[in-house]
Amino acid sequence: MPNPVRPTAGLHRAVIFLGPPGAGKGTQAKLAAKEHGIPHLSTGDMLRDHVARGTALGKLAKQYMDGGNLVPDDLVLQMVEERISQADCANGFVLDGFPRTLPQAEKLDAILQRKAWGRPLVVHFAVDSAQLLRRLTGRRTCKVGGEIYNIYDSPPKVAGRCDNDGGELIQRADDREEVIAERLAVYEKQTRVLIEYYRAQGILVDVNGMAKPAEVAERVQQILASAVANPVK
Ligand code: AP5
Repeated sequence: MPNPVRPTAGLHRAVIFLGPPGAGKGTQAKLAAKEHGIPHLSTGDMLRDHVARGTALGKLAKQYMDGGNLVPDDLVLQMVEERISQADCANGFVLDGFPRTLPQAEKLDAILQRKAWGRPLVVHFAVDSAQLLRRLTGRRTCKVGGEIYNIYDSPPKVAGRCDNDGGELIQRADDREEVIAERLAVYEKQTRVLIEYYRAQGILVDVNGMAKPAEVAERVQQILASAVANPVK
């Protein structure tokens, strides 16, 4: 007898990558999203795109971002709700840099409930602060494809140029040391609380973000594979 046709296994889950600035959320979110064929939703990237296009939201957000502060919750929430309502998010998505405050997390819960999604899966990347500083000051990003490099640990083959498309590598405006200090302080004050918020619900998995990128990716892959094998009811 032929095997029954099984539906394609999919993540069908909202996945949150949580951790301080420089923890590797973006690096890992790109890989995980590609592996599972779902969108990588970085609120930082979305806001930087608004800034670059000079939209009303971008003009408002820029003043907060340049100082290393969080953009007001209502602005970010509206942007995220619109984005996750788009058709490409129907099979799941990876949130990178959102939520970042308790009100953002609570509003996300309400949105997910309203859309009949199960509870999110939260992957928490732990990295010590000396390492965060090194990663953020050394980060360079491709202007064309968004590929992430580090001049100390994962430099491009040709200095200043992306290995994939030859695009110019740029340093983010908020990766200057004085702004990094503020971003790390803001994380401690406003975002760290989310670790306990999600841990208390039993939906947070810790990852050692100090490991090499490939090792972190393998661990993330295991976590997501387990989520596919054990879908939320
Ligand atoms: P956002 O863009 O979200 O920045 P962030 O959270 O500060 O995080 P980063 O992008 O700096 O770090 P990452 O964890 O993604 O690390 P990455 O993989 O790049 O936010 C920017 C601003 O936007 C905020 O300050 C705020 O103003 C605003 N904003 C955004 N979201 C908001 C929200 N929800 N609410 C309000 N405001 C919001 O890696 C960093 C470097 O480390 C790279 O060079 C990489 O190559 C390297 N690296 C990565 N992994 C490893 C590893 N395992 N070992 C060694 N090096 C590694």
